Amino acid sequence: MQDKTKKTGLIGHPISHSISPAMHNNTFAALGLDFHYSLLPTKAEDLQATLSKLTEQSFVGGNVTMPHKQAVMAYLDEISDDARIIGAVNTLHLQDGKLKGYNADWRGFLNALTEEGHDPVGMRVLLLGAGGAARSAVYALAQAGVAQLTVVNRTEARGEAVVAEMAHAFPNCPITFQPLERETFAGFAQGVDLVVNTTSVGMEPHEGHSVWPDDLPLPNAIFYDVIYKPAQTRFLQRAQAEGLPTLNGLGMVVHQGVVGFELWTGQKPPVELLRQAALETLYGSET
Ligand code: ATR
Repeated sequence: MQDKTKKTGLIGHPISHSISPAMHNNTFAALGLDFHYSLLPTKAEDLQATLSKLTEQSFVGGNVTMPHKQAVMAYLDEISDDARIIGAVNTLHLQDGKLKGYNADWRGFLNALTEEGHDPVGMRVLLLGAGGAARSAVYALAQAGVAQLTVVNRTEARGEAVVAEMAHAFPNCPITFQPLERETFAGFAQGVDLVVNTTSVGMEPHEGHSVWPDDLPLPNAIFYDVIYKPAQTRFLQRAQAEGLPTLNGLGMVVHQGVVGFELWTGQKPPVELLRQAALETLYGSET
C-alpha cells in the first residue's frame, strides 16, 4: 500500500473473521482502484482513539460492527436520518474532514430480498427478534411498504420498545408485537407472506436449533434468515425441505458492502465481485 492509496477499514471487536476486507480489497483490485480496506480491531475503551486515527490518517471511510454500532454515534459529525431512527451506524464516510455515519444494513437487507425477485410491497410479515439486525430489517420493511409487520421476541420489553419506536417513525405501517410463544407460531400457520429470522438461534456454533417449533406447521411463505454461517440454518433447511423459497444473510452483507463501496469510491461495484469474495471467504471449498 502506498501513501496515495485511499484507506478504509473495519472498526469492531472481535473482527478477525470478517469477510469485509476480502469483499472490498478484491473488488478494489478488480476495478483498478487504489484503495485498501484494513482491519482496525478496537475495544470499547479505544473507540474514540480509533476514530481520531481515521481523521488523522485521512481515511475515506469504513465500517463499524459489534460492539460499537450504537456507541460510535456519539463521536460523529453527522448521522443520516435512517441511522438515527434505527439507532445504529455501520458505515462511515469522511468528507472534508467530517466524519459521517450511515446505516447500510437496512439497504442490504432490502436489496438482498428484492434481488431474489421478492417485492415486499403489500406483504404480511412475521419478524423474529428485536436486536440490532431486527431494527434494520423492520426499518427496511416498513420503508418498503409492507402491509403488516408483526415483531415477535423472547424478551417482551425489548420487542415492544422496537415496535413503539418504529410505529412512531412509520405511522402508516401497522407494526405490532407478539410474545415468542407456541400460540404465536400456531397463529401464523397461515396469513403470512414473509418470515424473517433475526434472532441468533441457529447461528454457528449453535447449529441444529430453530426458532420455529419443530412440531408446528410452517406457513406458505418466503423464509429469510439473516444468519449466513451456517449457510443453511435449521430454520431454512426445514422451509427448503417443504419446497418454500428461502434466503440467508449473505446477500444482506454483500449489499450493505455495495453501499459503503459506492460512498467511498463514487463507483457502483458489480455485486457479483463482492459476492464471490464473500462466498470464498465464508464457505471456501464448500461452494
Ligand atoms: P443482533 O444485534 O445481531 O440482532 P442481538 O442484539 O444480541 O444481536 O439480538 C439477538 C436477538 O436474538 C434478540 O432478539 C434475542 O432475544 P432477546 O431480546 O430475548 O434476548 C434473540 N435470541 C437470542 N437467543 C435466543 C433464544 N435462545 N431464543 C429466542 N430468542 C433468542
